[in-house]
Order: sequence, then structure tokens, then C-alpha cells
Amino acid sequence: MDTPTQFFRSILLALAGNRAVEALALKYGLKLGASQFVAGESLEEALEQVRLLNAKGILTTLDHLGEGIRQLSEAAVYKDEYIKLLHHIRATGAYANVSLKPTQLGLALDPEAAYTHIREIVTHAKSFGNFVRMDMENSPYTDATIQIMKRLHTEGLSNVGTVIQAYLYRSEEDIHLLTEEGFNLRLVKGAYKEAKSIAYPKLSEVDENFKRIIAHRLRSTIYTGVATHDEKIIEWVKSFVKQERISRSTYEFQMLYGIRMPLQERLAREGYTVRCYVPYGRMWYPYFVRRLAERPANMWFLVKNMIKR
Ligand code: FDA
Repeated sequence: MDTPTQFFRSILLALAGNRAVEALALKYGLKLGASQFVAGESLEEALEQVRLLNAKGILTTLDHLGEGIRQLSEAAVYKDEYIKLLHHIRATGAYANVSLKPTQLGLALDPEAAYTHIREIVTHAKSFGNFVRMDMENSPYTDATIQIMKRLHTEGLSNVGTVIQAYLYRSEEDIHLLTEEGFNLRLVKGAYKEAKSIAYPKLSEVDENFKRIIAHRLRSTIYTGVATHDEKIIEWVKSFVKQERISRSTYEFQMLYGIRMPLQERLAREGYTVRCYVPYGRMWYPYFVRRLAERPANMWFLVKNMIKR
């Protein structure tokens, strides 16, 4: 039996993929409360937020929002946007890499076309000395995303990595295999709705698996992004690395724009590498709904902002 929080979470995650609700939300615009989590609709607004974060000693990863496209022609437009973004990062000297969603580049429609688009982005990034993170989406895309990363590495493009989600049962084994092969990974708890047959249903089990995979990665010293706002996990990482004498140069903490900003600043002041994930763009709706689902109290922003209008 689901707890009220799990029930609320599954409803919101189902709404994240609902096109009719999305169209309605987009009419309200970022004023709906999404501006707390999204840096703006334009690249210029996002780069201004990056500048402010960099000034506080926080690195960034920029995400041009978009996912689950319906026509392949949209993928080429997103690919061009990412290349433009890489040029702007270079021109402004921003401390930023990029994060993209494989379904934004067409993974659900034509995996080979998605591969070709992602390769073009990663090739550009390589020529600028930059790095591309492929976010991990829901489970139908796990294998395909890992395969794209591996294929790009065999083609000499090692400036690309992906994300492993602690809620999936398979992740512990994935971590062992991918660590042996030396891939740069971001580790997260996992943000999508997944069946109990493939994902730990209890948050306490997710946390335990998260710690197991973090420990394995940190001991390996292969570069790892520990992406969480969970202070208990962050404190645990801090004591683990101290006890195991693991160098700070082998990992970074990552958090999302608009969440736990004082904690991000404090970690940066303490000398840890901190990277803030900065999303921007018009297609903010599914990203926003996943953030609402992570914390029921966030619904109050939405309600307050709807009443204010
Ligand atoms: P948890 O959910 O336990 O939250 C700990 C505390 O943080 C909460 O008590 C609350 O105070 C605060 N908090 C967390 N979420 C909040 C929110 N939305 N609003 C306000 N406060 C909040 N997932 C995925 O499936 N694929 C991916 O590629 C990524 N990429 C990614 C990048 C980065 C940089 C981060 C930080 C996260 C992701 N995620 C992700 C999302 C991740 O899977 C997870 O859903 C969220 O990080 C929330 O989990 P926490 O680890 O923060 O813990």
C-alpha cells in the first residue's frame, strides 16, 4: 500500500507526461512558480545566473530544457541549440558544461539519429575542451543511453558521461561494470515513476543503495558527481572521504538550481567542488513537475502562484 506521499508523487509524475496539462501550464508561464527551479526561458537569462553562481565559486551544468520530442525534426533544432550553447560558454568564459536528455535528441523515435546528433554535440564540446552529461531518463532508455556513452568512448570521445539512478535494482551491477571501464558518472537517487519490479519502492532502500554505489565509486577514484540535496547523505560522504583519505579532486557535489542554495554556497566555501544544474528554456513543464513531485511542500508554490494571478 502506498503512503500518501508516494501516492501524491505518482500522480504528479503521471502529470509530468500529460500534454494537455502541459499546454495549460505553458499558458501560465514561469510565473506558475517554475522560475524557482528554472533560470529563465532564454540562454541570456541562464548565462546571467551562471555568472552569479560562478562568482560564488560554484560550477554549473547548463540544460536546455526539452525531452520526449514528437517529431525527429525537433531533435535537429535542439542539437543546434546545444552547439550554440557550447559556443556561448566558450565566448563568455563561463565555468559550465552541458547536460542533455537523449529523448530530446530523438532517442525514442530513431536511436541512430539520436546517436548522430549527440555525437555532433560531444565532438563540438571536445574541440572546446568541454564535457557533455547525458541525463538518465526513465527505464526504457537506460540501456540505450549507456550504449551511446560506450560507443562515443570507443570513437575517441571520452568527454561524455551519463547518470546512474540508485532506485533501480540494476544500478549496483551497472556501477561495477561502468567503473571498471572508467566512465565519468553522476549518481542520483532517481526522479521518474518506475515499477516495483525494477526499482526499490522504499526511500530507505534507495538511500542504502545510493550509499553503496557512492562508496564504490569514490573508492575507485574515477571522477564522480554525487548529485543530491540530502544533507544526511552529504555529511556521510564528507566523513567517508575523510576516513578513506579520498582526494577532493576525484568527485564533486551537484545540486539543482533553486534548491538548497545556501548549502551549495557553504560547501563551495568549505573547499568542495560544487556544480549547480541550471535548466533554461521554454519546455520547462515536465522538469518542473518532477521537482514538485520530489517534495510535496513544493505544491504550495504552485497553489500560491495560481491564486496570485
Ligand atoms: P531527497 O529527495 O531525499 O531530498 C533531500 C532534501 O532535499 C529534501 O528533504 C528537501 O529539503 C530537498 N529537496 C529535494 N528535492 C527538492 C525539491 N524538488 N524542491 C525542494 N527541495 C528539495 N534524476 C534522474 O532520474 N536522472 C537524472 O539525470 C538526474 N539528474 C540530476 C542532476 C542533479 C544535479 C541533481 C541534484 C539531481 C538529478 N536528478 C536526476 C534528480 C534526483 O534523481 C532526485 O530526484 C533529486 O535530486 C531529489 O533527491 P535528493 O537526492 O535531493 O534527496
